[in-house]
Amino acid sequence: MKKWFAVIGNPISHSLSPNMHDTWLKQLNIDASYIPIHVEQDQLEQAVESLKLLGCSGWNVTVPFKEAIIPFLDDVDDSAKGIGAVNTVVRTLDNKYVGYNTDGLGFIESLGYILPEHNILLIGAGGAARGIAHAFERLGFTQITIANRTLEKAIVLVDELQTGQALTLDEAENNLNKFDIIIQTTPLGMKSSEASLPIQLNRLKENAIVADIVYNPLVTPFIEEAKKYNVRTINGLGMLVHQGALAFSYWNGVIPDTDGMIQQLIEQIGGNYVNR
Ligand code: ATR
Repeated sequence: MKKWFAVIGNPISHSLSPNMHDTWLKQLNIDASYIPIHVEQDQLEQAVESLKLLGCSGWNVTVPFKEAIIPFLDDVDDSAKGIGAVNTVVRTLDNKYVGYNTDGLGFIESLGYILPEHNILLIGAGGAARGIAHAFERLGFTQITIANRTLEKAIVLVDELQTGQALTLDEAENNLNKFDIIIQTTPLGMKSSEASLPIQLNRLKENAIVADIVYNPLVTPFIEEAKKYNVRTINGLGMLVHQGALAFSYWNGVIPDTDGMIQQLIEQIGGNYVNR
């Protein structure tokens, strides 16, 4: 049977994943398709059963189902267990469906060459920050700082990781020169009307890397501010493309072209990408 993949979510119509995966499938001459599926909030279980019944070869899971899908899967890999969220489902040779999480590792791959000695600052302590923090921890990074508006949430995440430290946003701002990699994971900057920054960057270390996981707009106010200090900046397309590439490799056994895809998406969505 021809292989087919999917992404389930709600809403799903603006997802960039179908275009990305279709392009990779074509580039690598894999005879398969990838379709977006809108799932009603209260019909996740039926949707998962249908995907299994129809022999889906694997699928991505996006908002709001990443946590809720876990009970409906046959097994969950360690990458997803720790954070309690799945973004990729893989069909095994004996037709079991196993949940993985490629978001955190995908994000880290988008940073390029980095070292476990690097001092990481994550701004935010929500679902996205958890995924990234756990992936860093699994890779052996120990200097992980979580700074959050609500300090208690940062403390909970640090306790979970059993490494690193929690700070307030003010403390992070005042100690910014201690960090090699600064990662903005809050939704601040997603709306053009909300052009504020979670922290000021005037104490940025020379040679720091500044990343934002938001990719709409492509250049967030945080990235724009970082560029003033001539440091390397990474926009959220890196995470989108690399989490997709990892999922693709789990399904098809081959790693697709990530750099080309980031370029293609920049050209395709253009400007500062707003298409809600
Ligand atoms: P996600 O799952 O996308 O990470 P989330 O779980 O809602 O989203 O988490 C949002 C994160 O952004 C939280 O860390 C939140 O801080 P609080 O824990 O204090 O709520 C942070 N956040 C949201 N709006 C913010 C703002 N205006 N300023 C600073 N941090 C903000």
